[in-house]
Amino acid sequence: MPIPDRFNEPLNRQLQALISECEEPLLMEVMAYAVLGEGKRIRPKLLLAAYEAVAGEVDFTNAPVATCTGSATAIDFACAIEMIHAYSLAHDDLPAMDNDDMRRGRPTCHKAYTEAMAILAGDGLLSLAVEVMARRVHEGTHEQARTAQALYYVIKAAGVNGMVGGQVSDITNEGKPINAETLAAIHRRKTGCLITAALEAGAILGGGMAEIQTMTKLGQVLGLAFQIRDDILDVTSTTENLGKPIGSDTKNQKATYVTIHGMAAAEAEYARLSHEAFNIVKEIECKTSALRDLVSQTIKRTK
Ligand code: IPE
Ligand code: IPE
Ligand code: MG
Ligand code: MG
Ligand code: MG
Repeated sequence: MPIPDRFNEPLNRQLQALISECEEPLLMEVMAYAVLGEGKRIRPKLLLAAYEAVAGEVDFTNAPVATCTGSATAIDFACAIEMIHAYSLAHDDLPAMDNDDMRRGRPTCHKAYTEAMAILAGDGLLSLAVEVMARRVHEGTHEQARTAQALYYVIKAAGVNGMVGGQVSDITNEGKPINAETLAAIHRRKTGCLITAALEAGAILGGGMAEIQTMTKLGQVLGLAFQIRDDILDVTSTTENLGKPIGSDTKNQKATYVTIHGMAAAEAEYARLSHEAFNIVKEIECKTSALRDLVSQTIKRTK
């Protein structure tokens, strides 16, 4: 089985279990709709791969998720980061933001349910994500300090100077002639921060304090590359392949790597960053090949 694929089953199983903790049936249904669809699960897989890189291979399929082991904590943090990502997508698609009708090959949350439920499911996913991570800290194992540190990295990345701040800048600059630096700053915050935090949190939970800096560097390069690729695919792909509408950025008059730099330069920058990401992974003495394989898969993605 390709290395990152073996993370799919344990991730989906634990996501389902965590969402099932919700006692409000409609809220549980909408949160499950937002998070359990056909996503690539890049961020949670990066977290697990970074964990393995420093802690060694784990059979996550048999990880005793109800216990206080490091691997169980890593799975919960991976699910939390996917819940935060799914919340950001449900809100990003709302009419007040990008106003898109399709996500992961089916109607967006607000189309399938209502705007109110898409907003509340997003709120629920963010809160549940924090609850799940804080619960691992609260358990008070000997790894409490590092679990708290990982929580700090994740929630800071999701927050006002990370993803949310980036989304604000993305929305408020629609239709405006921004420069290349402002665009890069938007991409770093709205997309790069969470990808970086996934790698950092994985290393922290695995006990790899020495690897944090390199993970940060990798996340920044990979995160920027990821959003440049997203900008390119918005122009060159098809709605059927992406599972979300193409041309969304043009419709919303977004500045993207393609509008600011042109397609050829966007492709060249993507290639340059991809190469750099590979070189950074080589700097890490990984105990398994999962991280290298996943970076390679992420870079080659066509959707
Ligand atoms: C889409 O993220 C939003 C961006 C930050 C570009 P993904 O491309 O990871 O979406 P899913 O999770 O696979 O649906
Ligand atoms: C979204 O960027 C980044 C988020 C934080 C959700 P986009 O608006 O380009 O993502 P897509 O193309 O809708 O997935
Ligand atoms: Mg957007
Ligand atoms: Mg969007
Ligand atoms: Mg996009």
